[in-house]
Amino acid sequence: MAYAGLELEDVSMVFKSDGQEFTALAPLELQVPRGRFISLIGPSGCGKSTIFNIVAGLQAPTTGRIVLDGEDITGMIGQVGYMLQKDLLLPWRTVLDNVSLGMEIRGVPLKQAREKALPLIQRYGLGGFENRYPSALSGGMRQRAALLRTLLVDTDLILLDEPFGALDAQTKAHMQEWLLQLFNDFGRTVIFVTHDVEEAVFLSDDIYVMASRPGRVIDKMPVDLPRPRDRSIVSTPRFVAMKKYCLDLLHTHGVVEEEKAAA
Ligand SMILES: Nc1ncnc2c1ncn2[C@@H]1O[C@H](COP(=O)(O)OP(=O)(O)OP(=O)(O)O)[C@@H](O)[C@H]1O
Ligand SMILES: [Mg+2]
Repeated sequence: MAYAGLELEDVSMVFKSDGQEFTALAPLELQVPRGRFISLIGPSGCGKSTIFNIVAGLQAPTTGRIVLDGEDITGMIGQVGYMLQKDLLLPWRTVLDNVSLGMEIRGVPLKQAREKALPLIQRYGLGGFENRYPSALSGGMRQRAALLRTLLVDTDLILLDEPFGALDAQTKAHMQEWLLQLFNDFGRTVIFVTHDVEEAVFLSDDIYVMASRPGRVIDKMPVDLPRPRDRSIVSTPRFVAMKKYCLDLLHTHGVVEEEKAAA
């Protein structure tokens, strides 16, 4: 039987410009079983968004294949839900029509898309704002709308590229709990990119730690913490130890890389 989930087989990415080659991603193997929450953490430029662009079919990898539930989807768009690193709401569309947009792009008539979107807007913290424009929303609310838009696209796999990166600490904490509730309710497979190690441990089932030059995975850490999780878990010894393990790895590799570059 085919593997249930996402597989990256020998995926690499080399960019060429001015006759120079730059390896953004060294050959990568990755397996994400259906229904899991995976995070990718690593320094800026280690290829996290590049992985997402390849999985979403927006960039062709230099080598390798993307396989979803046993089917080769390399270069195919529309197979996954993707919230880009700088995902913007359209300022001229209401919240309701922004949340409906993903479905609409996939061919769902707007009226039908709105009927599906409205109860979720109300249920997930945007009730009363459905007819407002994005300029009337706080940063956290905008991210909720963009996330709901991504989730409403009818795909199992969802890619979220630093959705909470620009939020203040308190809003971010609320959003993480909100996302866990969604993950629980929707039962999707999520790959999540963040620079924030605590966020990765709090949310994930597995964390892939990456390094740069060339971009690659240096370790995979399973997060064996029970679900559902609440904020009190961050001060437990197990949580603190996992966080430290990831931070140490990132630090060691970061420093080693910089020393190499300076030499
Ligand atoms: N189209 C492109 N042409 C050339 N180089 C590129 C291109 N896209 C990305 N790169 C390079 O590939 C590397 C990986 O970029 P990527 O955006 O995937 O990093 P990232 O891990 O998402 O970083 P950040 O955390 O800052 O978002 C970077 O060095 C970047 O400059
Ligand atoms: Mg990025």
